[in-house]
Amino acid sequence: MDPHVPQLGIGMVGYAFMGAAHSQAWRTAPHFFDLPMHPDLSVLCGRDPGRLTKAAERLGWESTETDWTRLLVRDDVDLVDICTPGDTHAEIAIAALEAGKHVLCEKPLANSVAEARLMADAAEQAAAQGVMAMVGFTYRRTPAIALARQLVSEGRIGDIRHVRAQYLQDWLSDPLSPMTWRLQKEKAGSGALGDIGAHVVDLTQFITGQGIVTVNGLLETFVSERPMADSASPALRSDAQVGEGTLTGQVTVDDAAVFLGRFSGGALGVFEATRFATGRKNSIRIEINGSRGSLAFDFEDMNVLELYDAEDLSETAGFRRILVTEPGHPYAGHWWPPGHGLGYEHGFVHQMADLVTAIGSAQQPLPSFADGLQVQCVLAAIERSSELGTWAPIAVPAAAA
Ligand SMILES: NC(=O)c1ccc[n+]([C@@H]2O[C@H](COP(=O)([O-])OP(=O)(O)OC[C@H]3O[C@@H](n4cnc5c(N)ncnc54)[C@H](O)[C@@H]3O)[C@@H](O)[C@H]2O)c1
Repeated sequence: MDPHVPQLGIGMVGYAFMGAAHSQAWRTAPHFFDLPMHPDLSVLCGRDPGRLTKAAERLGWESTETDWTRLLVRDDVDLVDICTPGDTHAEIAIAALEAGKHVLCEKPLANSVAEARLMADAAEQAAAQGVMAMVGFTYRRTPAIALARQLVSEGRIGDIRHVRAQYLQDWLSDPLSPMTWRLQKEKAGSGALGDIGAHVVDLTQFITGQGIVTVNGLLETFVSERPMADSASPALRSDAQVGEGTLTGQVTVDDAAVFLGRFSGGALGVFEATRFATGRKNSIRIEINGSRGSLAFDFEDMNVLELYDAEDLSETAGFRRILVTEPGHPYAGHWWPPGHGLGYEHGFVHQMADLVTAIGSAQQPLPSFADGLQVQCVLAAIERSSELGTWAPIAVPAAAA
């Protein structure tokens, strides 16, 4: 480690799925990217001391705290990384920014537009003091997605006409699949919509460079009651009901969301987000049709971007399969020789590298909390539209005076 590179102390809250992905990324980023600061895995925070100690050892953290407010007063924490369910994001992020700590907050930014607005306000005030905040829409950092954005911005597929995006999973298709916090509105805000629909909203806006301005959506909950897992947390179990000898819990979020959207540049969008697409595990499919060509992507084949050039001779025209592992492709040059593909975890490494680079150069990292707020407004409009059966315009509330 170069002693001239300053440390960036990380305090992370939550140590399960995203906690593990972020830990790995913080550890790896400085080995593959030249960073202006060296991330130091200072403190891991969780509620259960026994599990926390084991997680800290396994994931490589130097110390632990069982109360996240301790991160705000520790000198070895410069950045608070929030890897907890959505109901905790606003409180932790706002307090951390007010304490002068940079923040990385997992998506969706919050559980409501009101919370997201407060977070964006706090981020704007903090940025004026050089304290940065970013929301973790990680899939933007998949090289093929970043290349898609680059090709669109260079005009390679012309004016965008159609945006087709799906985020398909199947882990809830079994009605006996147990309750989790992801199925409770007060914890998660919404279901498939906010968890995975938020990603395709962000990705399509990122690739096209256009915002969604109005939506028409349908939400559905196919299975409204599920068994409690034996390992369910006390919080989940306290809400459970006993039916026919089994503890069950109410699902209070959507299982699936479908929606239409119109983009600011006139493109028409068709979206799906579901946890009931049997056989589809983590399929993020995006196809964009423009006046000069098309792009297609599927995360289940994440190193590939398909490009159709409508100006090719018709005899040889067709979708070409670009293996996005060349040194000139976004992020790819930091890794392996061409053809030696990347995986799910690399997006998180890119996310940390981009964030540390932005902090080091006093630039606003993207996506910002304002971007997260805008996505939250799209999600809220889809919910509103589904309830009312009408189109719903995207309205981003003004900042507090
Ligand atoms: N960027 C992505 O692609 C991506 C992928 C999955 C999840 N996420 C987001 O990451 C966040 C966490 O999701 P996850 O899949 O890691 O969930 P998880 O259930 O695997 O982990 C949640 C962690 O938060 C802890 N926790 C819960 N409430 C807490 C509290 N009040 N105080 C302290 N710790 C608390 C739990 O003990 C656990 O360690 C969510 O916002 C989710 O939407 C993002």
